Amino acid sequence: MQAPVFISVAIVLIVGSFHAHRNAMKDALIIFDTTLRDGEQSPGASMTQEEKLRIARQLERMRVDVIEAGFPAASPGDFDAVRAIAGAIRESVVCGLSRASLQDITRAGEAIAPAARKRIHTFIATSPIHMEKKLRMTPDQVVEQAVKAIGWARQYTDDVEFSAEDAGRSEIDFLVRIFEAAIRAGAGTINVPDTVGYNIPNQYAATLRTLIERVPNADKVVWSVHCHDDLGLAVANSLAAVVAGARQVECTINGLGERAGNASLEEIVMAVHTRADVFPVQTRIDTTQIVPASRLVSQITGYPVQPNKAIVGANAFAHEAGIHQDGVLKSRETYEIMRAEDVGWSANKLVLGKHSGRNAFRARLQEIGIEVSSEEQLNAAFARFKELADKKHEIFDEDLHALMRDETLTPELEHFRLISTRFHSETGETPNAEVTLSVGGKETRSQAVGSGPVDAAFKAIETIAKSGGQLLLYSVNAITTGTDAQGEVTVRLARDGRIVNGQGADTDIIVASAKAYLNALNKLHAGSERLNPQL
Ligand code: KIV
Ligand code: ZN
Repeated sequence: MQAPVFISVAIVLIVGSFHAHRNAMKDALIIFDTTLRDGEQSPGASMTQEEKLRIARQLERMRVDVIEAGFPAASPGDFDAVRAIAGAIRESVVCGLSRASLQDITRAGEAIAPAARKRIHTFIATSPIHMEKKLRMTPDQVVEQAVKAIGWARQYTDDVEFSAEDAGRSEIDFLVRIFEAAIRAGAGTINVPDTVGYNIPNQYAATLRTLIERVPNADKVVWSVHCHDDLGLAVANSLAAVVAGARQVECTINGLGERAGNASLEEIVMAVHTRADVFPVQTRIDTTQIVPASRLVSQITGYPVQPNKAIVGANAFAHEAGIHQDGVLKSRETYEIMRAEDVGWSANKLVLGKHSGRNAFRARLQEIGIEVSSEEQLNAAFARFKELADKKHEIFDEDLHALMRDETLTPELEHFRLISTRFHSETGETPNAEVTLSVGGKETRSQAVGSGPVDAAFKAIETIAKSGGQLLLYSVNAITTGTDAQGEVTVRLARDGRIVNGQGADTDIIVASAKAYLNALNKLHAGSERLNPQL
């Protein structure tokens, strides 16, 4: 009976070493995530420092190589957020974006200073239309400015990336010229952005191939791609460029980003992972962290993920047709090319219940990467967990994330706090709501009627807050399955050109809605959001 065991162990070892050998021959594909910078440029997606930190921690947990944390010169809020991320992240490289100016680079250099591993990403436009109409600079001046910028950036870090903005519409001879100068000036990564999403895969791949062939010292740098999705080709272009020699892909969670968005991280990573036979590269990404990252970004920005979105959409692994269901039941590979659990779909695994103790609660928070700053915070969170478990019985990871979000609110986000709400809604009657709030520590009550209980609750809150905010978005999602699930509400408010997103969760969606509205009001009140920097 022993021999088969030895044989199978030997086979496993041989297969294992074959994979290790095959992987050892593969180049590393650097995953550069720009959700916190380009992603944040989506209208209404601007985030507070605390929200950016939560996303940055999740990106690090996912083993993203480079986190582009923001654009420090854009605003004091952006500067502070990049600096805070630089202080908190240890494994991933923290990158700050800057135009090719001394002022921008100084801000970026100061913001990333606390990082264990830091990068400055400087850019200047190189297409005829951008140089002439936007920069009003000659090509010679653009090259000179790029070289100076890289020199300034090198004073803060040896890791400098240079981007030729609108490279996708630039002349190839000029790109060769400016990239040669950039490499000579000390840039270690050369990025070729398709800023306006104009390229198509074979053309973009040919551009990369030509550049790598023609630019002197091309083999001394990492070639990077950054694609926008205006023609729906951002992922296809990025992957074509990888086959042509690019070794860094710039992308965002859920494909969030300026206009139609950027290349989506989850699609790039899973394409490379699933089609290892085609791509000569491998990433370091922990793919099981993809769905949690997608949910976190969607919940913070208020951008929902479409159900049929590849990898992270709710239906991405659902088989509807009977013939497919039958096939999958007989053998999963008949219709599935990836496993849902490999990208982090946990199928609402039950994690805790009302009898779970404090230690189990603390341990689960640690396992899902939620840090608790003090024993007091843990006690307060545990008390709220018990309240929720009384209402809901089964508590999932998603519930814990929502619960801890409320628990980690900073004092400036608690100027308006919900004490209680009461509402009445009956067929044929006008709904009304009464809310009791704490405003700067003082209890205040108000009531209002509305077209429905949520509308009435918002009007009652506005009677007290008088914010004048304009409601741009109201959305509700069930956090888990079942009618006892918590509803998670996102509210987007605009005032004086500022846009904020608020979130709230509760098993009662009127309460969740009131909490979300107050969370948005608190952000407007604290001024903790910033204007979107449109480059
Ligand atoms: O799309 C773009 O060109 C950019 C650059 C700043 C890299 O986002
Ligand atoms: Zn971009």
